[in-house]
Amino acid sequence: MVMTNLGILGSGAGSNMQAILDAIAAGGLDARIRIVLSDNPDALILERARKHGIPAEVIDCGGHRMKFPEVAQETTARKLAEAGVDLVCLAGFMRLMKRPLLDAFPFRILNIHPSLLPAFPGLEAWKQAVEAGASESGVTVHLVDAGMDTGPILGQERVAIFPDDTPESLHARLQLAEHRLYPAMIAKYATRLRP
Ligand code: GAR
Repeated sequence: MVMTNLGILGSGAGSNMQAILDAIAAGGLDARIRIVLSDNPDALILERARKHGIPAEVIDCGGHRMKFPEVAQETTARKLAEAGVDLVCLAGFMRLMKRPLLDAFPFRILNIHPSLLPAFPGLEAWKQAVEAGASESGVTVHLVDAGMDTGPILGQERVAIFPDDTPESLHARLQLAEHRLYPAMIAKYATRLRP
């Protein structure tokens, strides 16, 4: 059995990266995280990665707040390739990627999103769900394409929304589902990539 080399891109706390590490340690995912990259120098995900001895670097997006400049995507693709990454996992990464990265890793970039896509794409999906008065949301793992949360869906888990839920309480429950679903879907997809 061939182990999968993962590269993680994140902008925030890195709880999904931690769930991936926990699944690897528990034997549920035959993989190793080779590199963690973040567009946010203050992101906790970088600190968490370094604590585990994983190389963790900042991607310079040239001061752009939302844009992922082409040169930054090229650098990201190069760093991932140099680290020997087979499969890229977005874990709370908040920029849209276009050709340089998508071409470098065709069908090899996964994302976790905190809604039942195609419902509530984009930012703060948990807040969108509560504000819409929905009675159910969930989490989705999908392949990344050039759209916003539009790529082919690999798996979903449903999460009920209760009348007294706030955006924060719902997000906390969605994250528990993310931490179950993402490592399981990575393990399943990785077996499809193997020769
Ligand atoms: C997660 O809830 C993830 O689904 C969301 O950001 C959070 C990151 O948490 N991603 C998106 O909204 C992407 N559109 P983490 O840094 O603790 O893993």
